[in-house]
Amino acid sequence: MSVKILAIETSCDETAVAVVENGNKVLVNEVLSQIDIHKEFGGVVPEVASRYHMEGIIPLIEKALKGSGLTLEDVDAVAVTNGPGLIGALLVGVSAAKALAFSLNKPLIAVNHLSGHIYANFIDNEVEFPLVTLIVSGGHTDLIYMDGHLNYEILGQTRDDAAGEAFDKIARAMNLGYPGGPIVDNMAKNGEDSIKFPRVHLEKGSYDFSFSGLKSAVINHLHNQKQKGLEINVEDVCASFQQAVVDVLVDKTIECAKHKKVKNVLMAGGVSANSALRELMSQRCQKEKLNLYYPPLKYCTDNAAMIGAVAFHQFIAQDFAPLDLNAYSSMSLND
Ligand code: KG4
Ligand code: ZN
Repeated sequence: MSVKILAIETSCDETAVAVVENGNKVLVNEVLSQIDIHKEFGGVVPEVASRYHMEGIIPLIEKALKGSGLTLEDVDAVAVTNGPGLIGALLVGVSAAKALAFSLNKPLIAVNHLSGHIYANFIDNEVEFPLVTLIVSGGHTDLIYMDGHLNYEILGQTRDDAAGEAFDKIARAMNLGYPGGPIVDNMAKNGEDSIKFPRVHLEKGSYDFSFSGLKSAVINHLHNQKQKGLEINVEDVCASFQQAVVDVLVDKTIECAKHKKVKNVLMAGGVSANSALRELMSQRCQKEKLNLYYPPLKYCTDNAAMIGAVAFHQFIAQDFAPLDLNAYSSMSLND
């Protein structure tokens, strides 16, 4: 059997189109990033994002099809992210996907962006259930248990800032640029974990996260240094902040894997590209004899290949969306 899915993702600041075969073979993966446009504003401007998605989507679909050597007729279904994300941005992808599905008379598949991040791990890879997955992106920090495809048990969530959001905010406080995550990751390589920032673990047994206290501690440190006329060692601030985030993410993920008695641990989302997180999680998983999976860098941040990967399992389950499908800015994995 061969199922080829055309997948579209426009939830934030990347216009992305992919064609994925049988959920794990990427025939083409096109990403048109708007980062350079939003950089100027220090963050994503939703209206601007929508406008660029509108300009980019049709040429990108054409480019992707050309790259895969396929025609629209060869595609078995059209999949699209319909939440969570920026509503105006999501609607561009949803409208394009609906129009394609309708005109081709092919099934439409609505994909949750977070499922997409998880399924980035299944591309070119055999992953076994049951598993625990840590989603760390610009908008989410979640711990999820899965005992089979499309079955999500949410064990922990962030109570305030998401991990990626904290990276972006502290980078902004030091005028390092946008998005902050990769910049902080790089600067941290030349710094030391010399400043004692808090590790917030919350109540015992809780798999929730909270990073706003850490973010405030970093901002207070920057103010204090300034007030005292002391120099700010940006590399050390980056290294110390990053280590505080990573320590908590790794501790909680390992605890959660032990609690659920799983052997398989996944990481997903933009922050799973972080080098310190990958290193510490690898060490701890090795020590605990857990199998660790994380996607290659190109599938960590937003892309449509991951949407096509989930959509295959929805196709098999005949989980098709109606043509009046809407987009939702907030959406749980179980919606
Ligand atoms: O998954 P993603 O591309 O978009 C969302 O769904 O949010 O994640 C983007 C987030 C941003 O906050 C960005 O700063 C962060 O991922 N990020 C990183 C790294 N690369 C991207 N954070 C830490 N270290 C990195 N290397
Ligand atoms: Zn994302």
